[in-house]
Amino acid sequence: MNRKKLIAGNHKMYTTLAEGIQLAKDVHNLLKSKAEQVDILIIPPFTHLFAVSGILKNTPFFTGAQNCSSEKEGAYTGEISASMIHSAGASFVLVGHSERRNYFNETEEQLHQKIKQALNAGLQVIFCFGEPLEIREAGGYKTYILNQLHTLKGFSGEEWNAITLAYEPVWAIGTGKNADKEQAQEVHAFCRQWISENISAETAQNTRILYGGSVKPENAADLLSMPDIDGALVGGASLQASSFAAIVNASLV
Ligand code: PGA
Repeated sequence: MNRKKLIAGNHKMYTTLAEGIQLAKDVHNLLKSKAEQVDILIIPPFTHLFAVSGILKNTPFFTGAQNCSSEKEGAYTGEISASMIHSAGASFVLVGHSERRNYFNETEEQLHQKIKQALNAGLQVIFCFGEPLEIREAGGYKTYILNQLHTLKGFSGEEWNAITLAYEPVWAIGTGKNADKEQAQEVHAFCRQWISENISAETAQNTRILYGGSVKPENAADLLSMPDIDGALVGGASLQASSFAAIVNASLV
């Protein structure tokens, strides 16, 4: 088992262009000596992607988009295609973030199509999933997660080389209340087992599974010490270069 950790900062709908560029520069300055040991990914808003990707070109840092269209191209006013994202210099895209699922009613079928478009465009996909609070409390979270993982059926072992998972329990996102390391580890191991049974044992060993939901400098080392937690998808704490850097540093201990 030799999975390089991946720490991703999802800037959501925050920062002006100037602020987003400054944040990327600050993150680069603070972390450039670490980028060989851990993969570092910045996910700014669409409007910043070309500029931020330009700044990080010829560095080991990666950029990504927060969403992509389920269509390849066409008369879909306001949509952004996977190949546009790729052509702007990004190498990753988030698919299925709970804010997209909940506020924009994205269905598993659409998410499957988005993954297809992203892979065809040469992007790496970070597929996000996780249960809401009422499901966690009622105890049915594994069944709920299994249904979400079903979206990943039909992709080949080779396509899985470009797929990363991100377990993000909805009750932990932006709430300040993270899943504890045992809760997260349990779900990550469960997902790895699912990959082993449905794709292959080798793919299960190679696939990175990130944790997301209130990751902060104070809890990162604990979460990232678990055997099946291969990195973090960070929202709020990625908006400050110093706290994002502290999380990246925590992944190295
Ligand atoms: P948070 O967001 O770190 O602010 O909880 C995580 C995410 O939405 O990816």
